Amino acid sequence: MCGIVGCILKDKESAPVLLECVKKLEYRGYDSVGIATSDKEIRIKKDQGKIDDFRKKIDLNELPGKMGIAHVRWATHGLPTKENAHPHTDCNNRIAVVHNGIIENFKDLRSELEDSGHKFSSDTDTEIIPHLIESYMAEGKSLEEAIRFATRKIKGSYALAIMSLDEPGIIIGVRKESPLIVGIGEDEYFLASDVPAVLNHTDKAIYLDNREMVILDGNKVTIKDLDGEIISKKIHTIDWTEDMAKKQGYNHFMLKEIHEQPDAVKNTLREESEIRELVKKLPNFNKVCFVACGTSYHASLVGKYLFESILEMPTDVILASEFEYSSGGLDENTLVILISQSGETADTLKALKIANKKSETLAIVNVIGSSATREAKHVIYTRAGPEIGVAATKTYVSQLTSIYLLALLLGGNEDHLKTLKKMPDYMEQSLKKEDQIKEIAKRYKNTWDFFFIGRGFSFPTAMEGALKLKEITYIHGEGYAAGELKHGPLALIDDDVPVVAVIPPGHSHDKTLSNMEEVKSRKARIIALGADNDEDIISEAHEFIGFAPDIDEMLSPIPYVIPLQLLAYYISVERNIDPDKPKNLAKCVTVE
Ligand code: AGP
Repeated sequence: MCGIVGCILKDKESAPVLLECVKKLEYRGYDSVGIATSDKEIRIKKDQGKIDDFRKKIDLNELPGKMGIAHVRWATHGLPTKENAHPHTDCNNRIAVVHNGIIENFKDLRSELEDSGHKFSSDTDTEIIPHLIESYMAEGKSLEEAIRFATRKIKGSYALAIMSLDEPGIIIGVRKESPLIVGIGEDEYFLASDVPAVLNHTDKAIYLDNREMVILDGNKVTIKDLDGEIISKKIHTIDWTEDMAKKQGYNHFMLKEIHEQPDAVKNTLREESEIRELVKKLPNFNKVCFVACGTSYHASLVGKYLFESILEMPTDVILASEFEYSSGGLDENTLVILISQSGETADTLKALKIANKKSETLAIVNVIGSSATREAKHVIYTRAGPEIGVAATKTYVSQLTSIYLLALLLGGNEDHLKTLKKMPDYMEQSLKKEDQIKEIAKRYKNTWDFFFIGRGFSFPTAMEGALKLKEITYIHGEGYAAGELKHGPLALIDDDVPVVAVIPPGHSHDKTLSNMEEVKSRKARIIALGADNDEDIISEAHEFIGFAPDIDEMLSPIPYVIPLQLLAYYISVERNIDPDKPKNLAKCVTVE
């Protein structure tokens, strides 16, 4: 959803640093890129396309200056074109702005500005910002005051980095509902949408809150509210390292992150004592409501099956984007659990705001210091480390692990807790299936439709497998409750539509097996996942991915999702798609 960066350096040119920092944010948007640097004038290079292609086309020596701003775009208003790429400027090229968010009232403001003579050169909502600031500065206001006045006019969400030739040596950042952090190096200062952008330069960061402004002047950082009052903020030490955000020999971040999953789960398991403390602190509740989007929604679905079976507690799962229309009768006895890798998903944050008014809220989040962690009443960190691939993998298994820890500790279920601690070993067994899955991917790369089926705890696994396939291979995949196929979708099944059946040992095993037979007798090819000694599946499936014979279906969602991630990954690679940057998608969705 766009990534922004700004920096003021002591004795280095800013353009190479800006490019390197913004590259780390490419997971937030990759349809256009742009840089503006400032010394005696503001110079801009921008274009449609990915950063690596942009880098080949430009000469960084043409961008002199020790300070600048940069942007990667995920288009919302206006096509991905050079004109619509950021930075955007005022009429006289004296003010440059990069923006993440959406200005909802930009049409009205644009026509007001055009009526008073401002000339626009893009279709974006963002471009009204430099023109608004220009109009206030023309009245004699300082850059800081002009920005403050502009924020009173604009409606919507924004993280902005702004510089003006009329106040050289200063970059101002301001945020409302889009993330912005300040990186503090040695006499060097940074602004960024997310921590990985600055990891190569500093491990010290300040997390800005809504309606806060930061002024970087090369010697210090000043943070103010939008009334101009100085605010004192904590400087955090970041425990993510630069190395964690690199590919480390893997072809793609996604593959690296798939392989990091046993370690990610080990790290989440280390949160056990924190979660034990949290369980003691939580007020009594008699109902649970999970809220999330995408992969985090699938983790929530597992949470529903778990809370209902372990705690016998009524549990709802609501898509965050639907929460304002149907929030399941919240009251003070409801625990609302919001799940989000980024902690910045606009739909989830909106739901959190609504839930905070009525209920106890708990956010399960990966990104430390993100908005959800500051707005929820309680927080569990998943500690999976930075995830760069757009498709969530290691953060999903870490979310599941957090949910298991919470439910098992609330329910005092020590037996399952012991098995949960063995989870990294089960996951290693799933990873060993990689070569087999690579071969399966070759055979199925030209398929147009897939179904994924499972029952009970395996139903969310089937949905997650289908989502991974859709987002990184562009093949249609549908995750279905295995028993529901006969109520409609069975009509779609034939020898062109393979069915991936998720059948761990347990309560749902025999019925899912029957559903597998149903589709097989309609000529579907079957790719089945199950315990490696499951003769019933072995004799029926066309492709059998077998592992972990003794994992119970309740804990199966973690090791069983891994082959599905690998299947999607290798089909994506076979189809020459970059799985780290699927078209039309961004890692962090900061618009509703
Ligand atoms: C998953 O592969 C997707 N990238 C997407 O569905 C994601 O899970 C969703 O946008 C929610 O993001 P969050 O966990 O950061 O809130």
